Amino acid sequence: MAVTMEKANIDWKNLGFGYYKTDVRFVSDFKDGKWDEGHLTADENIVLNESAGVLQYAQTCFEGMKAYTTVDGHVVVFRPDLNAQRMYETALRLEMPPYPVEKFVKAVEQVVKANLKYVPPYGTGATLYLRPFMFGSAPVMGVKPSTEYQFRIFASPVGPYFKGGAKPITLKVSDFDRAAPRGTGHVKAGLNYAMSLHAIVSAHKEGYDENLYPDAKTRTKVEETGGANFFFVTGDNKVITPKSDSILPSITRRSLMYVAKEYLGLETEEREIMLEELKDFSECGLCGTAAVISPVGKIVDHGKEICFPSGMEEMGPVSKKLYETLTGIQFGKIKAPDGWIRVIE
Ligand code: PLP
Ligand code: COI
Repeated sequence: MAVTMEKANIDWKNLGFGYYKTDVRFVSDFKDGKWDEGHLTADENIVLNESAGVLQYAQTCFEGMKAYTTVDGHVVVFRPDLNAQRMYETALRLEMPPYPVEKFVKAVEQVVKANLKYVPPYGTGATLYLRPFMFGSAPVMGVKPSTEYQFRIFASPVGPYFKGGAKPITLKVSDFDRAAPRGTGHVKAGLNYAMSLHAIVSAHKEGYDENLYPDAKTRTKVEETGGANFFFVTGDNKVITPKSDSILPSITRRSLMYVAKEYLGLETEEREIMLEELKDFSECGLCGTAAVISPVGKIVDHGKEICFPSGMEEMGPVSKKLYETLTGIQFGKIKAPDGWIRVIE
């Protein structure tokens, strides 16, 4: 049985999605061609050379996953091996030395164990967000990869990514591009997010919650938002999701499609989805670690409003079932497929 542990004095139910300093983080350095053993530290600050690769040419990438307190009091992490694998692939694309998958998962476990008092209690709706990241730390001047790197993981208790939690949100079809056809949209490079900042600030100013980025080449297909993948429900209850080489292969989306098919018996399909088709769908949602499942009520495409039949008040019925099943698995209420849940405590 899990040990009862004294929790930090936090108003868990009112947490937003923000940085909250916890006690311990993991650090490992890459130098002379190899990663060191790594260690835990209380120091949240990093001192860098002014010409570090990350500061000059944005050589940095990250991951995001969560630890949950389950209904029976255990602390678990959802599919950290997939985050480790994705970061490995991101590192290769950015000419960074990949951090070994097994060491990554072990470091995640250490960070959660060392911050147990920040894992939100079951039933509060909050979770412990884990942020692995890596950056070029040695000085560079010419445009080339750094020779030294640091890998870190910190933890932060978080609430819902979108204010209002399960209330449907409104998206704008962005005039900006997020990812080029042969660029870095399929990996979790910091640069993808830097270049989305102007687009998100502009969208917020205009009253939208997020951007829908169409494909950069033809601007006729649905890709993803700044921080989540899409899923749609068709009139005959099929769950579909965009197929593209320039979107992030979301772990939540991959899990959700499995859940839709294997747990709910729904038909699923990953295929190109045209902006033109949006008006035909009965439900639309975003999925991701931070977003969990966030219902979309309306998408505005240059003045043309697409309002989903599920409306602006609550999640549609299929999205709700998907949400309940996926979070049921994460919070230990529903039996998980083998290997999805790593028990920490
Ligand atoms: N797409 C983007 C651009 C993201 O930043 C994220 C967040 O990680 C996702 C999708 C969702 O991915 P995951 O479900 O693995 O968190
Ligand atoms: C995540 O869901 O983990 C993300 O990285 C999305 C966003 C916070 C960038």
